[in-house]
Amino acid sequence: MIKKYSIKELLNKWYSFLNKKVLVKGWIRSFRYSIFITLNDGSTINNLQIVLSKNFDKTILEKITIGTSIKAIGIITKSIGKKQLIELKSSDVTIYGFANSKDIQKSILQPKKHSLEKLREQAHLRFRTTIFSCVMRVRNHLSFSIHKYFKDHGFFYLHTPIITTSNCEGSGKMFQITTLENKVDETKDFFKCKTYLSVSGQLEAETACMGLGKVYTFGPVFRAENSNTSRHLSEFWMIEPEIAFYRLKENMDLAEDFLKSIIKYVLKNSIEDLLFLNEHSWSKCNKKIYLIDKLKTVLKYPFKRISYTKVITILSNEEKKRNIKFSHPITWGIDLQSEHEQYLVNYFKTPVIVFDYPSHIKAFYMRINEDRKTVRAMDILFPGIGEIVGGSEREERYEILLERIKEAKIDEKKLWWYLETRIFGTVPHSGFGLGFDRLVQFITGMHNIRDVIPFPRTPNHAEF
Ligand code: 4AD
Ligand code: MG
Repeated sequence: MIKKYSIKELLNKWYSFLNKKVLVKGWIRSFRYSIFITLNDGSTINNLQIVLSKNFDKTILEKITIGTSIKAIGIITKSIGKKQLIELKSSDVTIYGFANSKDIQKSILQPKKHSLEKLREQAHLRFRTTIFSCVMRVRNHLSFSIHKYFKDHGFFYLHTPIITTSNCEGSGKMFQITTLENKVDETKDFFKCKTYLSVSGQLEAETACMGLGKVYTFGPVFRAENSNTSRHLSEFWMIEPEIAFYRLKENMDLAEDFLKSIIKYVLKNSIEDLLFLNEHSWSKCNKKIYLIDKLKTVLKYPFKRISYTKVITILSNEEKKRNIKFSHPITWGIDLQSEHEQYLVNYFKTPVIVFDYPSHIKAFYMRINEDRKTVRAMDILFPGIGEIVGGSEREERYEILLERIKEAKIDEKKLWWYLETRIFGTVPHSGFGLGFDRLVQFITGMHNIRDVIPFPRTPNHAEF
């Protein structure tokens, strides 16, 4: 039996395959002079050139078109061409699935420049494009590096429920779940109560950390906000570590080390794909900022840590000094808007961690400070993205937590189990949520979050 190899294996260890007979499988990217096939199998951004023998079977030759899937058996030889080191000399090609040239011309598989919007319209085919397959491979490596980081640091991976009765974040709409055709009486519904798709696994993760010590979740979350921006999805992936005995400072230290470690990992393990994306991001920018330089800058300096109150002072001073006006006026108590966040990261030229936000703009579970006005919250702001991480030290004091739940007009009976963890050996604890898709966006330099997830869900869009 002739062994099958991925194109990645063949190209990486090309010297050990010279003059050997191998089998490859993939999709045709181009076909020139009725001899040269460019084959890609998704294992790498790079293609394998197949050179067909002179007296190649005519009936098969006619069916060799862009998009067609094939199996080829041949000998690996050194290539005379400058573009590639090796090629596969083959007289044995089997077609799995033919792709009609006329149909291909109407699709994004036609090798010419297509807009990212066009690619999105054919999301089922975009895995075969260079740019999207690069993004997907980076996404995969990132995902793996996250699990690796937590494993190396003594965390346990926790699967929190997707169906829930509570709104952890309190703000924003949730998707309701029902099995009733005409939803009228939830007591007759499947769970005998109103249930929703979860916006966060945090509350459950908190209960788990008070037994397992260090846990993290990594799963899909759902938000029914009508936000049509380049950084909002209705279904996105979030990573939420939760750690017993951690105060806010340790939480920030963890978040910074975690982000830097995973960026380092992809710089090492996804460099081929990043180099391609580097060129792409550069051609899209007016300013010549290379993606890889941007990533290295994040690693180089400590993140700037600054309180919300100081941020307000800086922003209002900047308005006076530079005679500028933000469209959202600056006063203590406002929620920071995207324009403010961008201004801050440009001002400090590093990612920024803003902490101690006013309590009224943050969720009920955050630990209240002695001033009674601010909470031990922290948001991490990244260049071009804005908020990438949201976290806090949690309110571990039963009475205060109950008060905060009531203030937020949340039915405390529904959260009895959450409150109970504050009765049975409560501990200081902290955690944060990292928006995975926003991280992939930052690392790949893609401008729209819809181009970093296989099948984006956004208002009015749930195709595929
Ligand atoms: O700030 P958020 O809402 O925090 C939480 O959900 C907390 N329960 C996390 C925790 O402390 N365990 O969301 C966390 C992150 C944001 O910083 C952002 O990166 C991302 O999730 N995010 C979104 N990403 C894509 N689309 C959306 N609609 C998002 N909303 C939030
Ligand atoms: Mg937030």
